[in-house]
Amino acid sequence: MALVTVAELLRKAELSKYAVGAFNCNNMEIVQAIIAAAEAEQAPVIIQASQGAIKYAGLEWIVGLAKLAAAQTNVPVALHLDHGTSFEQCVQCIGSGFSSVMIDGSQYPLEENIALTNRVLAVARAVGVSVEAELGKIGGTEDDITVDEKDAMLTEPQEAKTFVDRTGVESLAVAIGTAHGQYRGEPKLDFNRLKKIKELVKIPIVLHGSSGVPDEAIKEAIALGVSKVNIDTNIREAFTNATRQVLNEKPNEIDPRKVLGPAREAATAVIREKIRIFGTSGKA
Ligand code: G3H
Ligand code: 13P
Ligand code: ZN
Repeated sequence: MALVTVAELLRKAELSKYAVGAFNCNNMEIVQAIIAAAEAEQAPVIIQASQGAIKYAGLEWIVGLAKLAAAQTNVPVALHLDHGTSFEQCVQCIGSGFSSVMIDGSQYPLEENIALTNRVLAVARAVGVSVEAELGKIGGTEDDITVDEKDAMLTEPQEAKTFVDRTGVESLAVAIGTAHGQYRGEPKLDFNRLKKIKELVKIPIVLHGSSGVPDEAIKEAIALGVSKVNIDTNIREAFTNATRQVLNEKPNEIDPRKVLGPAREAATAVIREKIRIFGTSGKA
């Protein structure tokens, strides 16, 4: 099958109250793990590429891998730019074959974020690519900030309504207490805020920084309106820990396939588990 848009996958997810997993890829093995997991669960899936992934693998390689993966499978696959940094980068990804882009204008004042998102939307709409935007700041777990500062970064429900009314963006990433990377303690999600946002904003909501969030909290967030759940760190952990284990057990191993094969399997297992938690099994 050809790549499908994230918007198309999220429309169905929203109607049936499940969430589509968006899994970050860095290399061929992780792309293969994402597809193997989606096939095993017969689930739609989003392959996404971050700034770091594009720098590491190269834009054309990521597009090539994702297109090949989609062509060879019977499950719906989208290719999405994660945290796009500029109008120019979004246009470049659209031109290269991404079926969806995120423009992350969350570090700008509201008016600038709206204007930037609208510029990307104008191009994306013309060629049938879907767009995710971000409002509120989803930080990293290593950010050294106080509780008050953390609160100030969360998405304001009324502002979210204004943002969506004035852009018509297809999905919105919100800050409700999650962070990227490994958590130090247990993350506390602001479900009341999510509920208010979802009452005012009638589009699919995206949860970033979802690795390390307890399964029950993820399920509650989905019940309250989250339709796309982003996972990167848990895949990195599974992949790299598996390579470490092989090399610890066999320090003389020199065959990359013997090191990366188990890593690919470990990543597949984690992604399958996430797909089940998100309620996406059998939804292909
Ligand atoms: O959202 C960010 C990703 O989880 C990590 O980004 O691949 O650029 O390190 P990176
Ligand atoms: P984690 O690495 O915390 O899973 O976050 C992934 C993410 O939000 C990518 O945009
Ligand atoms: Zn993110």
